[in-house]
Amino acid sequence: MRDLIEVLHPILNPVMSEMGLLESDWKDLVSSSTDTSFADVAMPCHSLSKFLRKSPLDIADDVLDKLGDSASEICEVTSVNGFLNFSANQKWLSNKLQNSLSDERLGVSIEETRTIVIDYSSPNVAKHMHVGHLRSTVIGDALNRMLTHKGHKIVAENHIGDWGTPFGMLIEHLIDLGLDSNSDFIDFNSFYSDARIKFDSDSEFATRSRARVVRMQASEPETIELWQMLVDKSLIHFNEVYQRMDVLLTNEDIAGESKYEATLPLILDKLEDAGLLEESEGAKVVYLDNWTNREGDPLPLIIQKADGGYNYATSDLACILDRIENVGSREFLYVVGAEQAQHFAMVFEVARKAKLMDDGVKAIHVPFGLVMGTDGKKLASRTGGAVHLNDLLMEAVERADSIVADKNPSLSKTDRAEVAEMLGIGAIKYADLSTDRNNNYTFEWEKMLSFDGNTAPYLQYAHARICSIFSKEGIDRKSTRQASINLSEDRELNLGRALIRFPESLDSACLSHSPHKLATQLHTIAQAFASFYEACPVLGSEDQLRESRLALCDLTARTLQTGLDLLGIASPQRM
Ligand code: ARG
Repeated sequence: MRDLIEVLHPILNPVMSEMGLLESDWKDLVSSSTDTSFADVAMPCHSLSKFLRKSPLDIADDVLDKLGDSASEICEVTSVNGFLNFSANQKWLSNKLQNSLSDERLGVSIEETRTIVIDYSSPNVAKHMHVGHLRSTVIGDALNRMLTHKGHKIVAENHIGDWGTPFGMLIEHLIDLGLDSNSDFIDFNSFYSDARIKFDSDSEFATRSRARVVRMQASEPETIELWQMLVDKSLIHFNEVYQRMDVLLTNEDIAGESKYEATLPLILDKLEDAGLLEESEGAKVVYLDNWTNREGDPLPLIIQKADGGYNYATSDLACILDRIENVGSREFLYVVGAEQAQHFAMVFEVARKAKLMDDGVKAIHVPFGLVMGTDGKKLASRTGGAVHLNDLLMEAVERADSIVADKNPSLSKTDRAEVAEMLGIGAIKYADLSTDRNNNYTFEWEKMLSFDGNTAPYLQYAHARICSIFSKEGIDRKSTRQASINLSEDRELNLGRALIRFPESLDSACLSHSPHKLATQLHTIAQAFASFYEACPVLGSEDQLRESRLALCDLTARTLQTGLDLLGIASPQRM
């Protein structure tokens, strides 16, 4: 589908050359302006002054004059403060919407396929998933869905923390508790912290734990079996959370730290060959220019500790090699909290220096801010610990259930439960995805579950309301897609403009790895729909107008549903 810039181009060209401008003088002005979108184009004339020796105001006026009504078929043109503004008119918008109406993809184009690894969720074995993993899981999953929809091949990798020295104490603790693979329950509530307390207070336990690490690194079968049990039980827990959250991750996507264990010595060799390794207090490290600690001393990236164990960073280096050589990707997104920015910057720099990746490989840290409590501090449970993700999800659905019971008492209990699940989980996800990921956000139940404002329930309600227009009258949605769309009222035009920006909002969300750009557009669409529906009768209109408005309703519902789906949020038909 062609956007306004493209159709304007041949109309502007003769006018500009008549004024003595070459195409190269003005061509980029239109597309580079930030005010430019599919349906509205702003062209700043300032940089043309140097060619024409006139003020931008005069140039804009001149162009306007010379254009006459040659663009009137497609847009309104105005000259304001040295800018030429082109704004799509009814006819152009109606045509454009007409195309979307018959397009399954709603105007979203398919890009040239790239293989993109998205590293997300990545919780740690033997611990509960907590609120710290919420953002990575929700944002990573939305990016997975959005980029897949754009035609890319996405390789999701769940880089779980399943290896390293803590496993010595975890396995010993498992043995002490008398648990084996037949026990179906490990209480991860206190498992990790209990092991830690014992390790710090009981020297015999600490000695056993250290010996256990050595046995684990030597792949002793009995130890690996116990380790595997911890991993398996943790995966059961992760999968429960993923299923409830409707997240795409499965066991197939597990690519934990242990996966790279065997290649760590190779990484050491490569760093050695590249002349990057240095000794520091018995450890093997890499020093990079410009990285210093708080005291101003050079900050090393630790590759191998003095006791021979490898580090988090070493796995990440091996992981890069694997993604290039085995996965066949040259683009990696790491959806990990902003507090790990330094870790990734250093790992990427070392990887380039050691030629594990060339300059063409894009390794991108996609950071995000914290989830805050209403007290202005990092969200915590009543006892001060991290809030378990499971508890949050449960509470969201419970709260949604009573809201739905209130709003729509006629729903059966099973229907209500189903809607509550979609609403509650949707609310948590949307609260996260609708804020710029770089910012912290405050976790507020009332706000995220409200039917007003930029929330999941507001969008879901707009969608359900449209569905009910059709179901009430028994109108087949598909049958409306043959109608010819004809926008007449202002509020109709406004809705049309909002709908047309859907593909472009998805594109900019994908480009900047920022789902909130899509969310914001969906909210604009839902708002535009509400004001359209208030002022423009749909079922109360007749003939072609009714057809056109029903088609607009259908297109709005499909756009909302598709958009929410790309964010990983369900759209109930009624609520
Ligand atoms: N497991 C880590 C944590 O909980 C996150 C891993 C992120 N991914 C990576 N490739 N380092 O902090």
